[in-house]
Amino acid sequence: MPAVKSPTLNPEPLGPEQRSTIDDIAAIMRSAEYTVAMTGAGMSVESGIPPFRGADGLWTRYGTPPMDGFSQFRKDPVGWWNRRTNEKIDSHILELRDALTSAKPHAGHFALAGMERAGKLKSVITQNIDGLDEKAGLVNLIEIHGNRGKLRCLECGRRESLGDIVPLFAPGPCDECGGLVKFDTVMFGEPIPDDVMAAARAEIDRADCVLAIGTSATIRPASGLLWIAEAAGAKIVEINPTATKLTRLCEVSLRSTAGRALPALLNALT
Ligand code: APR
Repeated sequence: MPAVKSPTLNPEPLGPEQRSTIDDIAAIMRSAEYTVAMTGAGMSVESGIPPFRGADGLWTRYGTPPMDGFSQFRKDPVGWWNRRTNEKIDSHILELRDALTSAKPHAGHFALAGMERAGKLKSVITQNIDGLDEKAGLVNLIEIHGNRGKLRCLECGRRESLGDIVPLFAPGPCDECGGLVKFDTVMFGEPIPDDVMAAARAEIDRADCVLAIGTSATIRPASGLLWIAEAAGAKIVEINPTATKLTRLCEVSLRSTAGRALPALLNALT
């Protein structure tokens, strides 16, 4: 499997201009009442998990997967699970699964947890399913695309942690209601569970500062929350080595990686 050789995996040290921008971001956060972070796949690149888009993205290398995964699952859940047992699954899933299994939180994840403990960051809405934010100690965390380490009942929403087990066989019906159980990960074509979407929207509605970290801001409804925040008057701060469609709305954009920028931002804040 092609290893990820992302230039953003081994970022350059911060230069004077980036350090000045970090001071600007710290000033914005200090004057804000309620700062929320929205993170994307770029947040976990320095943990060895490839992004989806951009030069080293999984979709860039393997092509975008079918967008009807959820409807295929609902049509034939047992068949879907069986395809995972005989390894007849796409190369990008195998690459992503290997990376997810060995990934550990990096300094950027721990820096966000430090900002939360210092009261400078109220919550994190992550689009990532890797569970690294929780492992780094973040408490007020909303996993808007679910968590690959959990199962979820489609009927009653009951979630169950898998620990380190990656099930290869269809789990039984929900213990609570007998409903259909799947990975908690939100599939393409699957609505974000109402409870999760409501929690994320409530955080965005309270935010007067939103850090957009490592996201291309392309997938709705998650990324749409960034536009909603900006329209409501929140200051948007982008931390990303490359510009995105969100950049033009940002108060400040820092061209750096999560692993470099966030520890420096924590230092500037505390
Ligand atoms: N630090 C910060 N940002 C980085 C880094 C890094 N080390 N490396 C890459 N990036 C940036 C890229 O420049 C890009 O803008 O992270 C972003 C990753 O974008 P995507 O791969 O599109 O990931 P994301 O925005 O999270 O995608 C949203 O799309 O495929 C679905 O469900 C999937 O949750 C995902 C959603």
